[in-house]
Amino acid sequence: MDRVLAIFMVVTCMASSAMGATTIYNVMSYGAVGNGRSDDSQVSGNIVAPVKNAWNGNQRNAWIVFASIRGLVVKGKGVFDGQGPSWWPNKPCYNDPAHGVFCKGPTAIIFRRCDGLRLDGFSKINGPGSHILIMATNDVVVSNLRVIAPGDSPNTDGIDISSSKNVRIRNSFIGTGDDCIAISAGSSNIDISGITCGPGHGISIGALGKGGNDIVENVRVRNSTLTRTLTGVRIKTWQGGKGYVRKISFEGIKFVAVDNPIQIDQFYCPLKVNCQNYTSTVAISDVSFRAISGTSTAESVINLMCSQSVGCTNIKLDRVYISSSTPGKKVHASCFNAHGTATHSKPAIKCLLR
Ligand SMILES: *[C@@H]1O[C@H](CO)[C@@H](O)[C@H](O)[C@H]1NC(C)=O
Ligand SMILES: *[C@@H]1O[C@H](CO)[C@@H](O)[C@H](O)[C@H]1NC(C)=O
Repeated sequence: MDRVLAIFMVVTCMASSAMGATTIYNVMSYGAVGNGRSDDSQVSGNIVAPVKNAWNGNQRNAWIVFASIRGLVVKGKGVFDGQGPSWWPNKPCYNDPAHGVFCKGPTAIIFRRCDGLRLDGFSKINGPGSHILIMATNDVVVSNLRVIAPGDSPNTDGIDISSSKNVRIRNSFIGTGDDCIAISAGSSNIDISGITCGPGHGISIGALGKGGNDIVENVRVRNSTLTRTLTGVRIKTWQGGKGYVRKISFEGIKFVAVDNPIQIDQFYCPLKVNCQNYTSTVAISDVSFRAISGTSTAESVINLMCSQSVGCTNIKLDRVYISSSTPGKKVHASCFNAHGTATHSKPAIKCLLR
């Protein structure tokens, strides 16, 4: 803890962290009072995680966890440093019988059941795995964050949103080795704007379809720029599963040399293990892509690959202009069982079904 230079000014706030040997960092003992009023945590200086070999916390899946705090505000110019480089070459692996072995370090900061959460101004660098996970939380505003890790760091999502509602993320810079923002099951009313993303895997909904009944609805992503990311904006589902994704809009997005700018992938199976097709699926409907422009390194710049048994419905593209980042090279759109309409777009999108 001697490298911790943080000042936490906290009222009614409980936080614990797995920093080093079983240290529980309880902000109640730093002057917090349980008076039921708003909470406020100021972050300044660097908060540095232990390196992997010194990691001996009782919490194996996370570095810092804030749980069940109403009205928590974490703001300031400080830096949370997850010491990711000590994890990335030897990250722990898990065997998922259905989909294979995947390897991922602990999540750096988890906010769980923190209704009224506000995050502003701080930086989160080099997470061992995902940087920030917001779960089971209602009413969140995230602004002016910087989340940074190398483009080749493994499974280092920027901000993950899971089972959360009424979440606004704005004016933040996210450049990591995986999704800049990933929205997973149980999330609704998510409004994302002013994101500068890259490197990374773009802004993603999913992967869905592993849970019981995966639902994501009312997601709006606008005024954002993605630079040199592997994917741009995408919805991904495994084969099988149930639930739906609907009322999703991407608007005012700029791409700079993005590999796969617009993607719906209902055949998601990155580990290439047990990739058989199922007739059940997480159904996708009412998805719009509007006022989107930029360049791509690929030839197929729009890929709408929907479930072979259900298909996607009411997919709308309007004023989508994507060209090759190689001058003069032709690009095209590809679809599979995608129903909807395209207007004023280039390349011409003729593969949508009525
Ligand atoms: C658009 O995003 C940029 C950051 O990328 C931000 O500075 C600007 O305020 C945003 N504009 C609007 C209208 O939201
Ligand atoms: C799944 O379905 C798609 C579309 O019909 C097909 O291209 C693909 O080969 C199928 N995959 C398997 C593993 O059967």
